[in-house]
Amino acid sequence: VAQNLVTLKEVDSTNTFLKKLLSNTEPVEEGTVILAESQTAGRGQQQNRWYSSANQSLAFSLLLLPSFLPLENQFNLIRIVSLGVYDALFPLIGEALKIKWPNDIYINDLKLGGILIESQVQGGKIKSSVAGIGLNINQQDFPDWVPNAVSLKQILHKDYDLKALMFDICSHIGQWYIKLKAGNESQIEEAYLNTLYWLNKPGSFKAQDAIFGGTITGVSKTGLLQVDCNGVTAEYNLKEIEFLNK
Ligand code: BTN
Repeated sequence: VAQNLVTLKEVDSTNTFLKKLLSNTEPVEEGTVILAESQTAGRGQQQNRWYSSANQSLAFSLLLLPSFLPLENQFNLIRIVSLGVYDALFPLIGEALKIKWPNDIYINDLKLGGILIESQVQGGKIKSSVAGIGLNINQQDFPDWVPNAVSLKQILHKDYDLKALMFDICSHIGQWYIKLKAGNESQIEEAYLNTLYWLNKPGSFKAQDAIFGGTITGVSKTGLLQVDCNGVTAEYNLKEIEFLNK
């Protein structure tokens, strides 16, 4: 749950802002949330830019201090943050809502938002994790350089209260975080798999410059995508595979 909320009118990136706070000497409380009305340099995964429009997109970063989590299990942070977003949005969207591996939020075949988790590791342990969440909420349309995007408003034809949504998402993340702390990893893995986009459907992939047909069959404990190709399952990390069915 968001305990300590900092709201900013404009910032480069809420993730960058929270990471800077952490590098100061003052300790920052777990559950601190940085919420921005507008981001001038929002960041996505794999060095992508993240587009947000002032007061229409939800852009915030939540601080977790998961020092209990072994480094090799850090994909579970992606799982619980994705599940928190999923649980908050499911009552609005229903079955069309999916999580595209590793952590894009999809409605049918369009992207509603994404997650960028940046962890600071010290002595082989996760010292802090900045979980950045960006969602398209009240936009009517998107610029050309943002392909494949969709907003809640475009689907549901209503405006949503960004702050209320943020609190709801944080409280759902909090519930999954408690389960992670309690060691309920198999429940988390199963729930994540149940939300997965294009699971068990034949699709098209690109890896090592080759295009091939395959089927996503699961995600390994450590977060690798498992793809079956002619009865042989291979595991890929994010940099190794591209999913061509959007
Ligand atoms: C992606 O889909 O590639 C991840 C997008 C993550 C965007 C959010 S918006 C709030 C936070 N601040 C950032 O600069 N990025 C994340």
